[in-house]
Amino acid sequence: MSNNAESWNQPNVVSFFDTNRATTSDIYPSEWFFLKEQLKEGMSILDIGCAQGGFAGMIAEHLNDFTYTGVDISEEMISKAKEKYPQHNFHIVKENDYSKVTGKYDVSLVLGILHLHETWRNTIQIAWNHTKSSLILDLREVFEETVEDKKKSYFKMDINGSNDDYSEVLPYNLINSGEALEIVNSICTGAEKISFYGYSQDPAKTAVTPTNKIFASVYLAQKGR
Ligand SMILES: C[S@@+](CC[C@H](N)C(=O)[O-])C[C@H]1O[C@@H](n2cnc3c(N)ncnc32)[C@H](O)[C@@H]1O
Repeated sequence: MSNNAESWNQPNVVSFFDTNRATTSDIYPSEWFFLKEQLKEGMSILDIGCAQGGFAGMIAEHLNDFTYTGVDISEEMISKAKEKYPQHNFHIVKENDYSKVTGKYDVSLVLGILHLHETWRNTIQIAWNHTKSSLILDLREVFEETVEDKKKSYFKMDINGSNDDYSEVLPYNLINSGEALEIVNSICTGAEKISFYGYSQDPAKTAVTPTNKIFASVYLAQKGR
């Protein structure tokens, strides 16, 4: 079992989220494309891989009344999230144990994490199980064959540009576009509609990949009413 939590607990990684991914201006256009339509007063949100709970801050710029539950494998991230947003709910989870996630949420978010861990299919399944209405997630895609081998495609944990120790690396999963849709469709059983939107871009600066162009896709899976 990998210990990705330790990678995300590193002080330079945690401190990146002190100020980044915290306001609406930090939301990527592909994320906002779907999220803006889902925001409704009184809604409940589950955010898997919430880091310091940045989406609670972003959503608060648009809604007065919502509940937000954030879960993350990094205790350091969750500790800061609790300090920043004491009115919301935060839980530390393990990659193989999401039992602290209970109930159903109008909207579930799984953003910026699926391409960076091995058990990502299970994470989508957990999110879908706890979704009442809409699940928003993102993947990194290629038109070539899928690469889920950390030796061939990986992410150096230098997120804040101050880490020389690359001994800790995460996978940088590149999923063939056709397969990606098939995987989302097969996990999100009973979805009434699945939409996706994205764009071609360079891989992350600290990613080492066999390709120099990737497709960053955001998916919206919706349950029938
Ligand atoms: C790149 S950050 C993304 C944060 C936030 N979702 C965003 O989009 O700004 C990835 C976060 O996901 C967490 N994470 C990684 N794998 C996870 C998993 N399997 N379950 C829950 N959280 C995970 C990390 O600890 C980290 O805080």
